[in-house]
Amino acid sequence: MEHAAPAEVVQRGLQDIVALESHITFIDGKGGRLLYEGYDIRDLAEHATFEEVAYLLWHGRLPTRAQLDELKQRLVGLRGLPEPLARLIDSLPTDSNPMDMLRTAVSGLGLFEQPEEQPGPSSVEGALRLTATLPTMIGRFQRRRTGLAPLKERPDLSHAENLLYQITGREGSEIENRALDVALILHADHELNASTFAARVTASTLSDLYSAVTSAIGTLKGPLHGGANERAVELLDEIQDVSRVDEVVSAKLARHERIMGFGHRVYKVEDPRATILRAWLHRVGESAGNLHAYEMLEKEREVVHRKKGLYSNLDLYSGSLYSLLGVPKDLFTPIFAVSRVAGWAAHVLEEYQDLRLIRPSALYVGPTELHYVPIAERGP
Ligand code: ACO
Repeated sequence: MEHAAPAEVVQRGLQDIVALESHITFIDGKGGRLLYEGYDIRDLAEHATFEEVAYLLWHGRLPTRAQLDELKQRLVGLRGLPEPLARLIDSLPTDSNPMDMLRTAVSGLGLFEQPEEQPGPSSVEGALRLTATLPTMIGRFQRRRTGLAPLKERPDLSHAENLLYQITGREGSEIENRALDVALILHADHELNASTFAARVTASTLSDLYSAVTSAIGTLKGPLHGGANERAVELLDEIQDVSRVDEVVSAKLARHERIMGFGHRVYKVEDPRATILRAWLHRVGESAGNLHAYEMLEKEREVVHRKKGLYSNLDLYSGSLYSLLGVPKDLFTPIFAVSRVAGWAAHVLEEYQDLRLIRPSALYVGPTELHYVPIAERGP
């Protein structure tokens, strides 16, 4: 007997399902507002650093000067990789997908040095360790695949400065470093997105933070989640010149193709993070004497809004910004993880404090009256 599926019972993709209470991030999709622990993202992007935002997400309040200094010091002190993990990263094929490398390295970190008291509130230690080491893992892999030796540690660099240094081997200018710092702030959390949900599902079984972040990285890897910025840059590569934007984008829209970096499931107006990152793309482009990407994106924005009424999201600008900073395209999503690990850890900590195994149900639509058939009777 086959069951008919009453469509109204199933919320595909868990869309519009409120699965839990959280005090971390609030999204007002109609008003175009995003708050971390009650603070507007515009305020944080204007005044805070990524380190301050990480503290805010993990502790629910902004740090005092002493607390921030301690956090920064600890992050710097925790950047080094254990020797077996460094060897593991060096043994991976140099053409590995960097997200596969990162997932493997985080899993390896958990294997080589699982904190004794996991899981539990002490996982702030794990959050610090993971946040500190992700740039080192990416940097080591990037150096190796380009035939270079790993870089010496630079304790004088902030988190964003160190990330850029690890990837490019050079110190960024003040404006480049601040642009990357802001990009990290903007990506740090976004409520129950797919990777954060995956992290919380893992934590809800009382598994450890490292396993939760491994799940999250595997989830972020998918092009529907972490990969749109790469494709937004690929479109610019295809268009090449601002004079061709209207023609190429209009043709794609006429073929019902999606233009990456536009539209959002939650925001019905412009994603506030896109507004902020657009301004930073302009600043960095201007200081580099290269507004090519910015100008093409401005035209793209005008065409897509005119033809489809869609607004830009964060992914329209992040890839072009990272390209200007000298970051290879396949490291855009790993950079997303460097930032989002702060949010993943915050959600895992929150999950531990209000634990309830996450286990939804499925509507069974398969047969129910089958009987075992011996293998010899099943045909060739
Ligand atoms: N380009 C062209 N058309 C689009 C786009 C787009 N980027 N986004 C939505 N539409 C159109 C759809 O084709 C559909 O049109 P129709 O009604 O004529 O069929 C209509 O808008 C509604 O589309 P839905 O997919 O139902 O809208 P939803 O809100 O569920 O989609 C999503 C959100 C998945 C992000 C979508 O806008 C999209 O695919 N955008 C491109 C990918 C992207 O930029 N992802 C990054 C998301 S933000 C982030 O991760 C930081």
